[in-house]
Amino acid sequence: MDIKIRKASPLEIKTACLVIGVYEKKLSEPLLKELDQKLGGLLRQAKRNGEFIGKTGEQILFQPVGHLPAERVLLIGLGPEVETSLEKIRQAAGSAMQLVTGKKLGQVAFALPLDAEKKNGSAAHIQATAEGVLLASYRYDRFLSEEARGSRKLPKSVTLLIGNAREKHACESALEKAQKLCRAVILARDLVNAPGNIKSPAYLVEQAQVASKESSLKCKILGQKELVKEGFGALLGVAQGSVREPYLIVLEHHGGSKNEPPVALVGKGVTFDSGGISLKPGEKMDEMKMDMAGGAAVIGTMLAAALLELPINLVGIVPTVENMPSGTAYRPGDILTSLSGQTIEVLNTDAEGRLILADALTYAKRYEPKLVIDLATLTGACIIALGHQATAILGNDQKLVQSLLNAGETSGERLWQLPLWDDYDQQIKSDVADVKNTGGRPAGTITAAAFLKKFASDFRWAHLDIAGTAWRDQNLPYIPKGGTGVGVRLLVAFLQDLDAAN
Ligand code: BES
Ligand code: MN
Ligand code: ZN
Repeated sequence: MDIKIRKASPLEIKTACLVIGVYEKKLSEPLLKELDQKLGGLLRQAKRNGEFIGKTGEQILFQPVGHLPAERVLLIGLGPEVETSLEKIRQAAGSAMQLVTGKKLGQVAFALPLDAEKKNGSAAHIQATAEGVLLASYRYDRFLSEEARGSRKLPKSVTLLIGNAREKHACESALEKAQKLCRAVILARDLVNAPGNIKSPAYLVEQAQVASKESSLKCKILGQKELVKEGFGALLGVAQGSVREPYLIVLEHHGGSKNEPPVALVGKGVTFDSGGISLKPGEKMDEMKMDMAGGAAVIGTMLAAALLELPINLVGIVPTVENMPSGTAYRPGDILTSLSGQTIEVLNTDAEGRLILADALTYAKRYEPKLVIDLATLTGACIIALGHQATAILGNDQKLVQSLLNAGETSGERLWQLPLWDDYDQQIKSDVADVKNTGGRPAGTITAAAFLKKFASDFRWAHLDIAGTAWRDQNLPYIPKGGTGVGVRLLVAFLQDLDAAN
């Protein structure tokens, strides 16, 4: 799929499908009036019938045989102009891509939004359109037959129209940014979608090494031997039920000045979570191959930072294990000594994510980071609280939390804050150790974060629970079913505006 920028008038372009974004009740724009004339009044008719007035998500397809160089015109509603956002443009581009792909069209041209020449070509709109196009085109088809894969045909060429030749350069660089960013999102999706038989902790290590070889990232791996030597007791406790060896993946991006403290990103990398001895029920257990989505987001963000040459220092840390029941597995009642020295009473072997994160957070301290963000598919309770619409955010520094909330709005990967008052600490008090790994049913997402807080007291820290957002079982405009790659676009937006967090 070849994507290019072109300065041209939409009504003069020859294409299999011209996609035009229309704000609600803005059908009287000069270009739309001209289009309506060429279509012999079909647009006015659609408006009169209430079929299309430009509401968010509305679509109408015309085949203006002979009246326009374009073979088809697809109008997409963008909603009220005053409520417009980049997210609406991403979604409009994504749903148009789905329609175009469904019809197996070879070429498509976008004018999103189409409102006078001025805004039409803005670089931000081009980037959002390109993101929608690229992310909607993704499918995990690695294990499909050649035949099944080939039956889905993406357009060979995509043209993004701009109204002003002077903006061409800026728009081309926006397109390039979108391509780099989406490559990283797609890496994260591929990692999440990979099945557990392929995706061992060693596989994640390999993929991190591939990403570092293809970019300027440095990659360091700690294997079982080093982990034992250093004392990663919590991580090793989880790992001991699996025949697969655990690892700690460390990726470094040096884009800032030498003495600048890095931002540390930590991602949960449980390649399969059976629950261990506290075995999960069978229903939907298959989805627990996605329990490394936090790790995938970190690897993806590191790749994006390198490709986009972000002028900052970053370290990405991914503890990776498989949580399995076996004769060597850890048990409920076990007491583990974490890397921090704090002891942990294991009451449920299915609360494994917080254990491996505890050691990874402790390890992050060695980098003297200016701030730490962890991402994890940590609690089912998070899905009960927020559904699949938002990632939960909790932290010990409100300015950091606020910056992440803002990045959630710009990226469309939205966050919602939950409280992290000390009052919750009593739920994870243990009689026999410094802390226990479950806090009972009430406020499950918060008590998980309260547990992590005990290992994050030496730095500014925010925790993102992506249990509801990392995996979707329904298609969205630019997010096909399965692994979403959530976190990558969010964190890149955050890192591009890092000064706001300081
Ligand atoms: N990986 C799960 C959380 C999860 C559940 C993510 C569903 C995505 C979808 C996590 O390891 C887990 O099992 N958490 C337990 C914690 C409990 C035992 C305190 C949970 O949420 O039930
Ligand atoms: Mn679990
Ligand atoms: Zn888990």
